[in-house]
Amino acid sequence: MSTSANKKFWGNVACAAALVAVFAGSMASQVAQANAKAYAAVTSVKDVPVPNVPKVTPTGANGVATAADWSKAYPDIYASHMANADNTGHEGGRIKYTEQDPDIQTLYQGMGFSFDYTEAIGHAYTLQDIAETTRPHKLANCLTCKTPDLTALVNAQGTGVYAMDFEEVMAQMSETVSCYNCHGNTPGTIVIESDYMKNAMQDEIDAGTMDAVNVSCGQCHIEYYFDPDTKATLTPYGTPEEMSPDAILAYYNGMGFSDYTNENSGVQQIKVQHPEFETYTGAGSVHAGTFNCADCHMGVAYNAKGVPYVSHEFTSPLDNQHLLDTTCAACHSDLAGMVKGIQDEITGRETEISALLVELNAKLAAAVEAGEMSEAELDAIRALDRDAQFYWDFVYVENSEGAHNSALARECLDKAEALANEALAKF
Ligand code: HEC
Ligand code: HEC
Ligand code: HEC
Ligand code: HEC
Repeated sequence: MSTSANKKFWGNVACAAALVAVFAGSMASQVAQANAKAYAAVTSVKDVPVPNVPKVTPTGANGVATAADWSKAYPDIYASHMANADNTGHEGGRIKYTEQDPDIQTLYQGMGFSFDYTEAIGHAYTLQDIAETTRPHKLANCLTCKTPDLTALVNAQGTGVYAMDFEEVMAQMSETVSCYNCHGNTPGTIVIESDYMKNAMQDEIDAGTMDAVNVSCGQCHIEYYFDPDTKATLTPYGTPEEMSPDAILAYYNGMGFSDYTNENSGVQQIKVQHPEFETYTGAGSVHAGTFNCADCHMGVAYNAKGVPYVSHEFTSPLDNQHLLDTTCAACHSDLAGMVKGIQDEITGRETEISALLVELNAKLAAAVEAGEMSEAELDAIRALDRDAQFYWDFVYVENSEGAHNSALARECLDKAEALANEALAKF
């Protein structure tokens, strides 16, 4: 299903724009009035009429039409896309999570995030960030969520690309997250181009049981893993029912998967990535049935002529005054205050539970060293530790810090705490 099917067509806005133009001919105040009307009239991304898609000749590798290729056809959208390079607010440098939350130096010990885990700042920085990280990245699969050039290369040559040498493939990459990632070469229609997400969710999109916009973001804002044999990027689920933290953990435990072994405790750990898609669409989500990712993170903007367009600058809804004044105002008088309350609660609990996990890590390491417990006893504690850290990490690495689904975040943290305490009671 194309989400554009629910939309009005461009013709309607051509009329609105003509109306605005008539006012503009008379008096400046009337323009302001008309703009104010437009401001109030189109409040949802879903109500912005879809412009026609002209033909362009793709200039990118493997048939990708680049953002620059669309710049003439969609000047407003292009300008908002380019605004993702604005790093206002990060001039003082980015948060280094390894310093802010030193417990992760212990919990991620044995893998790169224990020594290099820096705040992300936006779609324009993906290639720069991967070039600069000191985390080891051997294979091209590390580029899965960074550039449409990799997605198109996989689509052209097959999933063998994921196992190619990182440096060799990186040298061919030039576009950061861009139009092709969410639209293929047909802007205005959502097209899922990533093979692993198409396999997991295209049937659900076609059946209308999963919103295509959420899936488009879910190509990258998800929990994924690399196939231990082929190195291909995969999702640990194939249907929405399998996307809960419980089901994902059961899947990994069933196949005996681990991302790394903690050298102190001997625990074979799972490193969760950024499960925004699973968290926002998961059980307990207040707004999943009403709003999709674009409603809160893209929003409606107006150009100088008062014509609405879909902003492609990906921001926090708290920084989108138009959205707060229109769509959210009906029910939230202090959204920022509510979100801060949730985030303080969730990050506070994350810190408490990571301290428990560090204590468990130390006790396990000491027990291994002392050699008084049997391997079977140690393994029983290790299994609890693995599951506890998985539930904790599922919340810790989710980028909304509880705002997407505070009920699910609390549930995961409760499970993490109970499992960690059960393990600690065995010493
Ligand atoms: C092709 C992969 C990809 C897709 C598709 C994608 N993102 Fe992202 N997104 C990323 C990466 C990678 C980052 C972190 C970038 C960095 O700073 O290095 C990110 C960062 C973000 C941020 C944080 C920006 C900031 O300033 O901190 C937001 C918000 C966001 N994405 C929203 C979305 C939404 C909404 C969608 C779907 C409409 C989406 N993304 C689709 C890869 C993607
Ligand atoms: C991270 C995902 C993402 C990227 C990257 C992206 N778009 Fe979009 N785009 C969307 C979403 C989501 C919508 C809203 C779709 C909907 O609700 O049907 C949209 C809507 C549109 C529309 C229709 C606007 C309307 O009035 O409904 C056009 C045209 C468009 N995008 C062009 C582009 C162009 C050109 C680029 C690159 C410069 C681009 N997009 C990059 C996700 C993306
Ligand atoms: C109902 C509104 C809403 C929807 C829908 C929503 N989010 Fe969010 N999202 C938020 C809020 C609120 C925050 C916290 C923002 C803040 O701290 O300023 C957030 C934070 C984020 C961040 C971190 C941004 C940053 O600057 O660090 C990312 C990434 C993100 N969301 C992606 C997504 C994706 C992907 C989806 C769809 C699967 C989605 N969101 C759906 C409200 C929403
Ligand atoms: C029809 C009423 C309504 C509208 C409109 C609405 N919300 Fe909400 N929202 C709620 C309710 C009810 C809750 C649950 C609050 C609670 O439990 O106290 C909520 C909770 C939230 C939460 C916290 C979710 C969680 O899991 O704890 C966020 C974030 C949020 N809303 C963002 C938004 C944003 C952004 C908008 C505008 C795009 C918006 N809301 C529009 C009614 C609404």
